[in-house]
Amino acid sequence: DNEKQVYITKIKQLLKSNNAVLIAHYYTDPEIQALAEATGGFVGDSLEMARFGNQHSATTLIVCGVRFMGESAKILTPEKKVLMPTLEAECSLDLGCPVDAFTAFCDQHPDHTVVVYANTSAAVKARADWVVTSSIALEIIDHLDSEGCKIIWGPDRHLGGYIQKQTGAEMLLWQGECIVHDEFSAQALKQMKHLHPDAAILVHPESPASVVALADAVGSTSQLIKAATTLPQTKLIVATDKGIFFKMQQMVPNKELIEAPTAGAGATCRSCAHCPWMAMNGLKAIYTALAEGGQQHEIFVDEAIRVKSLVPLNRMLDFAA
Ligand code: 13P
Ligand code: SF4
Repeated sequence: DNEKQVYITKIKQLLKSNNAVLIAHYYTDPEIQALAEATGGFVGDSLEMARFGNQHSATTLIVCGVRFMGESAKILTPEKKVLMPTLEAECSLDLGCPVDAFTAFCDQHPDHTVVVYANTSAAVKARADWVVTSSIALEIIDHLDSEGCKIIWGPDRHLGGYIQKQTGAEMLLWQGECIVHDEFSAQALKQMKHLHPDAAILVHPESPASVVALADAVGSTSQLIKAATTLPQTKLIVATDKGIFFKMQQMVPNKELIEAPTAGAGATCRSCAHCPWMAMNGLKAIYTALAEGGQQHEIFVDEAIRVKSLVPLNRMLDFAA
C-alpha cells in the first residue's frame, strides 16, 4: 500500500546516502527480503549472512533478523556500523543459554571441546572453541569427532541430538530449544502426510527428533531451499519458519508448498510457525534505524569479548571456505 511504498522509497535513498546495505534472513517478512534483493543487498541463512557482511564494501550493515546475527556481523567487522531494525529481536536459544550458567557447565568438563551454535550471545561465543551454524554443524562435528574430541554442544538440544545421531560423536548437550521449531508435531505431520502421500517432507534440524525422523531432507534454511529444487516431488511439506516460503516458492514456482503443522493445529494448518522476533523486522523500523541510528538500533560488542569470540567464529568461516 501507499505507506509501505513511501517507506521503501525513503529506505532506498538512505541506503545510498549512508553507504549501507541490507542483509536479511529467510525468516523475515517477504517485503523485507524483496527490498534487500532489489537494493543490491542479500537474503540468506545465518552463515551466508555473516559471510556477506564480512565481504561487502558498505560501511554500514543493516541486519534484518535477530540480535545474534547483528552481533556476528559486528564481531567480524568492527570497523563497520551495524544497525538492526530493533535490538529487541531476540532468540529463545540465545535467551536460554546465559553466559554464567554455560561457563559453569563448560568448566565442569575441561577436557571437552566447546561448540556453540551461532544462535548465542557474543559472550557465549567467547567461551567456545568453535561456532557453527546449522548448514555446517554436521561437517564440523564430524571433523572434531575424527580427531577424537569429546564435545560440549550448546544450546539447541534438538540440533545437537540430530548431529550426535548422525556422527556418533560423544556430545554433552545443553538443553535449549527454538520455540518455533520445537512446536512441530510428528503426529500432526503424519496425518498431513496421509492427506498428501506423494509429498516430500523437508525439516529444519531445530525440530524435535520425531519430526526429523519423518523427513526426506534435513538442513539449514539454504539447504532446504536447495532440496526443494532437487527433490523430484512436486508437493513439499516444509517444517520451518514460514518466512522461507517467499524464497522457496521463487525457486520452485511450479511446486506446491505446504506448511508443516504445529502441535494442536491439526493436519490442515496453514500459518503455524513464525518466529515472533523475526516478525519485529518491519519497513518502518528499518527506516528509523537508517534515519536515526543510535542506541536503539546500533550493535555494540565489548572489545575484549569481541576479540575472544572472533576466534571460534573465524574458525568456522575458515572451515567453510
Ligand atoms: P539457518 O538460517 O542457519 O538455517 O538458521 C535458522 C535459524 O534458526 C535462524 O534463526
Ligand atoms: Fe531463534 Fe527459533 Fe527465532 Fe531462529 S526461529 S531466531 S532459532 S527463536
